[in-house]
Amino acid sequence: MKTRIAVMASGGGTNLQALLDAWKSGQFSNAEITLVMSNKKEAKALERAKTLEVSTLFLDPKQYSKPEAYDAELAKRFMAEKIDLICLAGYIRILTPALVNKFPLKIMNIHPALLPGFGGEGMYGLHVHEAVIASGAKYSGCTVHFVDAGTDTGPIILQVVVPVLDHDTAESLAERILIEEHRLYPRAVDLFCDECLQVKGNRVAILEKA
Ligand code: GRF
Repeated sequence: MKTRIAVMASGGGTNLQALLDAWKSGQFSNAEITLVMSNKKEAKALERAKTLEVSTLFLDPKQYSKPEAYDAELAKRFMAEKIDLICLAGYIRILTPALVNKFPLKIMNIHPALLPGFGGEGMYGLHVHEAVIASGAKYSGCTVHFVDAGTDTGPIILQVVVPVLDHDTAESLAERILIEEHRLYPRAVDLFCDECLQVKGNRVAILEKA
């Protein structure tokens, strides 16, 4: 049975595109992207999915009284679709326990810095890279991690280091990191689908492929 993946995205969706490309080019031995959802009707991510005839779902947050109700509806839809893995790819809302608790260690996120640094509330988009540059750190990078009840706190699956250059702006650093994100996320997804991720507490061991 193939791992059924849903991707959640709010914006441009270049990470979604990287996952779609990996899938379509046969990089995932054992997976299919069955659904792309967004909280934004106009998200480019939805267009990208439609181009490849992948089912899409736009769920309007305004129709729900509170984030928990919205996430409970999402959980219901994902369960109805028999989704095995949820990939957050630039999804801007913070997930509530109504969704996270229904899919323990089955939700991944990609973050454009080396967690556990430079994560948490307010750490999204260029804010992350501005904070890295302001800190004087010599290295940044990206992290794929499982999503738990906190913000950017779940077990780390894979990371790649990207040097911070003296002349970097938030934009130039973001650009170089994004290139690495597009390589890293498909690798993490593939490892999950091949059952190569063994979680012990906060540590994720990478097992050899069978
Ligand atoms: C990426 O930098 C990702 O790390 C973060 O949001 C951004 C999404 O970019 N979570 P895109 O929509 O995939 O282009």
